[in-house]
Amino acid sequence: MFFIQFKENKKKYIQLSDYIKNMIENGSLTAGSKLPSTRELSEELKIGRSTVLKSYEILEVEEYIFTIKGKGTFINELKIKYNKNREFTNSSLINWEEHMNKYAKRAVELDIMKWDSQYKKGMISFKSIAPDGDTFDIDGFKRAFYNRLSLEGSNLLNYGYAKGYKPLTEWLLKYMVDKGVNIEGKDILITNGFTEGLNIVLSAICESGDKVLCENPTHNTAIKILKMREVNLIGINIKSREGIDIKELKELIENNDIKAVFLIPSYHNPTGLVMTYEKREEIYSILSENNIPIIEDWFAEELNYSGDHVKSITAIGGSNNNVINIGSFSKILFPGMRIGWVFGDKSLIDALESIKRGLNIHTSFIDQGILYEYLESEQFPQFIKRIRRRYKLKYELMKEMIEENIKYEHLLGDGGLYMYVILPSKIKVRALLKRCIKRGVIFTCGDVFSVSNEDSDGVISNKYNYENGLRLGFSKLKNSEIKKGIRIIGEEIKEMLNE
Ligand SMILES: Cc1ncc(COP(=O)(O)O)c(C=O)c1O
Repeated sequence: MFFIQFKENKKKYIQLSDYIKNMIENGSLTAGSKLPSTRELSEELKIGRSTVLKSYEILEVEEYIFTIKGKGTFINELKIKYNKNREFTNSSLINWEEHMNKYAKRAVELDIMKWDSQYKKGMISFKSIAPDGDTFDIDGFKRAFYNRLSLEGSNLLNYGYAKGYKPLTEWLLKYMVDKGVNIEGKDILITNGFTEGLNIVLSAICESGDKVLCENPTHNTAIKILKMREVNLIGINIKSREGIDIKELKELIENNDIKAVFLIPSYHNPTGLVMTYEKREEIYSILSENNIPIIEDWFAEELNYSGDHVKSITAIGGSNNNVINIGSFSKILFPGMRIGWVFGDKSLIDALESIKRGLNIHTSFIDQGILYEYLESEQFPQFIKRIRRRYKLKYELMKEMIEENIKYEHLLGDGGLYMYVILPSKIKVRALLKRCIKRGVIFTCGDVFSVSNEDSDGVISNKYNYENGLRLGFSKLKNSEIKKGIRIIGEEIKEMLNE
């Protein structure tokens, strides 16, 4: 601890007290910490004990240290001067913006939180698509925490397995079977939400420049993740309720070497559309014939309140291994837990497990444990019923209000937590947003979900720019806010159409 080199021309006890003073002043020895005893220090420095005693006496007189009888000698906080650091003659100022790599620069550029209009207190926000915190079953969750921690004890607080907490992975595999998925030859990895799941999958299968197909528009976070990986993203346009055009999909596959297809068949973000079973089957059959992997985003399965369960593409795939299913508990339970999963072929999951271990060892075991306990409790199915009822009522009110107040070209959304409105081409939503913000209403403009297809020469083709689309999230809004907010948006559109 003390690395002092004594010089010949000065008394050792003075050198030692100066050395300790300096350590106290620059904060290397912190207030209240204990100094070694005089015996220990004399042995450590190979000097006489009386030398150490004399040094301690000086330090005590000058109030650098104090002694408590029978307990030892301690550092006095009065003398610490944290700014007494060594002065460096060459000042080092790094320009971190220049120092950053392409990955970081892209992350900042694509981070809409940094540049898009943000919610301010008091606004009616159609921007959020987070679950309604008022529905959260806090008591049930507290019980789950207490029960699981009592049962598992230190197991949940120690390191766990990269693949995930076994009871939770088994629960999920059974859930998959209940939803008609063939789990033979497949495995599952718990991730920090869908977002980490997609990141890990892409890091395993995509190289820079690979072509990936997706719906256009699509989930903004997915666009960001794909572009940060330098994937060449090709969008298939959704122009109406019918979703993507199969003819366009076939053409894109014929003309491009496609690495994977990313799809959100249920409660597609931002349109809220649920793809029909027939369409899922048709898409699956086309992609299978061409041996193309499908990444299915299955984040909102349990939000289905407006119709029968539609079989997932993962289930349609049966015993084949070309579908990678990425799911999440963010919308049906608590996004703050950051728990999701990747389900797919065993050999793929095996590699993803190693990637995950290298990233963050594993997703929090305590969180996985509580989540499992909650999923197993009687409260979970009741909770799901409750939120479905609640969101259904809000959805119906939104639909009624939009139909009454907004002049639209298309109104999309089959349930879930948001709807998508495509306005007449005369209305540019960025201009509409500006006007609405002035009246205390905010929403998300369609352009942030837009995928523009750029070839290597920077030529943009197949661009379906959502300059006149807006996503309206309603999950967290009160009925009175929905009514007021939609009226305001409608009034502004009317004025813009008349200008
Ligand atoms: C399409 C889509 N997938 C997945 C998620 C969930 O992401 P995460 O699990 O990382 O919270 C969201 C959340 O908004 C989403 O919109």
